[in-house]
Amino acid sequence: MQSKNTNLISLFIFIMAISIKAVATPINPGRQSFPLNSKWQFYFAYNFEQNIQKENVDVPHTWNAAEVLKGVADYNRTAAVYENTIDVKPEWKNKRLFLYFEGVNSVANILLNHKFLGDHIGGYTGFCLEITDDVKPGENSITVQVSNAYRLDVIPLHGDFNVYGGIHRPVSLIVTGNDCISPLDYGSSGVYITQKKVSHQSAEVEVASKLSIKNTVGLSLKTTIYDQKNKIISSKVSGIENADTKEIKQSFELDKPHLWQGRSDPYLYTVEISLLKDKKVIDQVVQPLGLRYFNVDPDKGFFLNGKYFDLYGVGRHEDVSGKGSALQNSDHDRDMELIKELGATAVRLTHYPQNRHFYDLCDQNGIVVWSEIPFVGPGGYSGTGYVKNGNLEDNARTMLTELIRQNYNHPAICFWGIFNELKLDYDDPQPFIRELNALAKKEDPGRLTTLASNLGTREFSDLTDLMGWNQYFGWYDGYFDEVGAWADKVHGELPQKSIAVSEYGAGASPFKHMEVLEKPSPKGRFHPEEWQTAFHEQHWAAFKKRPFIWGKFIWVLADFGSSIRTEGDKNAINDKGLVTYDRGIKKDAFYFYKANWNPEPMLYIAEKRNIERSRSLTHVKVFSTANSAKLWVNGVFISEEKANDLHIIQWDNLKLSDGINHIEVSGGRGKLKLIDQCDWNLRSADKPKPIR
Ligand code: GCU
Repeated sequence: MQSKNTNLISLFIFIMAISIKAVATPINPGRQSFPLNSKWQFYFAYNFEQNIQKENVDVPHTWNAAEVLKGVADYNRTAAVYENTIDVKPEWKNKRLFLYFEGVNSVANILLNHKFLGDHIGGYTGFCLEITDDVKPGENSITVQVSNAYRLDVIPLHGDFNVYGGIHRPVSLIVTGNDCISPLDYGSSGVYITQKKVSHQSAEVEVASKLSIKNTVGLSLKTTIYDQKNKIISSKVSGIENADTKEIKQSFELDKPHLWQGRSDPYLYTVEISLLKDKKVIDQVVQPLGLRYFNVDPDKGFFLNGKYFDLYGVGRHEDVSGKGSALQNSDHDRDMELIKELGATAVRLTHYPQNRHFYDLCDQNGIVVWSEIPFVGPGGYSGTGYVKNGNLEDNARTMLTELIRQNYNHPAICFWGIFNELKLDYDDPQPFIRELNALAKKEDPGRLTTLASNLGTREFSDLTDLMGWNQYFGWYDGYFDEVGAWADKVHGELPQKSIAVSEYGAGASPFKHMEVLEKPSPKGRFHPEEWQTAFHEQHWAAFKKRPFIWGKFIWVLADFGSSIRTEGDKNAINDKGLVTYDRGIKKDAFYFYKANWNPEPMLYIAEKRNIERSRSLTHVKVFSTANSAKLWVNGVFISEEKANDLHIIQWDNLKLSDGINHIEVSGGRGKLKLIDQCDWNLRSADKPKPIR
């Protein structure tokens, strides 16, 4: 019979076993990674009581997710504490242990067994701490003190988005042998794959692996490149003689490489880097390799693998209604599905480095990426301009280094973004931007640098390789039809500069409508869906004619939380998304782009949510990949009309009857019949209803 104590001990062992979330993800032979995402204890740091109620949470977690939905401008930017335990097993006696945090927003102090272990400043990049010499066998406590309080030396200082506090990305415990590929280089994989020279004929690739070794006897490094069928394409072994060896570089030459060609063929090789001891694998890192070359021409735009490649897509925030930035892989997958459904070729990951998983998705799905650090100015808002501050500059330098090193091997990334909407009042930020640009080029000479400005043509135009402007003609300023003339003017004034539209968009609620287009007030409550659609139709029409615009990025994929906003349907939301904050509704503009960008068969009646009508004379507008479509109103065939070059099929001057009008449109694409229908209710002919 077991004693009560034995039972307690078994229970204790059981609890310890689950607290380390026992199942290791065997990344590879020699290295194990244990997710540390469940069973964290959470409390706010201002709570000094002895017996406080701690909340059980899983990470990714943020303490702001629910509160920001209430529309509070002053959401909780404070400090909190997360606690957990790890069980250090006897068999790890001669192993090395590391804690890897993918993102803690914004500042983190890590304590092991109540002793300070290290800290990290900046919420959107990963970091790794070695705990080998600090742990004891058995249970060890981990405490993470987190603050998302506003700090003048931590970017972002501004921004039309919420800075969600918490361990908002996954955590893991990595266990390696005594000698390993270093996990300690700015949170990177420790491996840097440089595409030195790539063409359709051949590819020169250099793999630099950072090592953390203690005993060199019998050590060597083997790097193998596999194709998608797991066939070895090339393999090299280098001996390691010297214990001071910090890095091994190996060069490869591939004949007739299969290139990574964006959406149409995102071909990935796999690079496996193994540290061997006496020919046995003692550590291994596996990285993607997508071989491609690209350039941007100021007159002709972006070229991928020697061919013109039209870059268009969306800006993306990592933020979902009710979850804040504490997202699961399924949330990222859903965003990627939306981006693919749109038919986008590119994404701007605004305004900070994003989740690891999302970069993988971009590689695998062939979406070209602009990725940036959260060096965000006040844009159209008041707020301080750039104030020179040594600590802030250190923070920006570190974050840029982390962004680049952590994401170096993602073929999808072609552009590093240095800042968004800085101003020229206060201190002049340009010398520092030049310095950051030089840092990006030193870290990664193979990619192009860019920035997103909301100032005039010439400001900031000589700082980075390329340039982008955030433009809102027809929303904040002017009218849509000005955007083409603006682009021509910039191109004329800066003929050597490759220019992009880094943001363009208009707010919209799928629950607000207008029958006659009239510019709404951006700061008002009435953000009708139809205005957003018209905005995008006209912008895309202008961009289509101008291949010199190397990238076109809609602002934004989905509505997102922004505590500073008091407009549209609800406070604290930026509603310029093509889909709603919960990803539940695709707005009309989404279907406009889908018809233009995604060749799959589709037909969609626009303005179908505008059900309650007051004007008898109206139009029916359809977005479709079909060449033509037929319209019936209340069962009466009206006509067949052709699609224009924006994939719009429109019937004008249609007369609705009082009461319900059934609208049905059908079109063909090969053998496929595409149908859409809706009902509109004409309440009282020609008496405009109050729409606000
Ligand atoms: C800016 C800015 C975005 C912002 C957008 C807007 O240009 O870069 O972060 O959300 O405009 O006003 O909607």
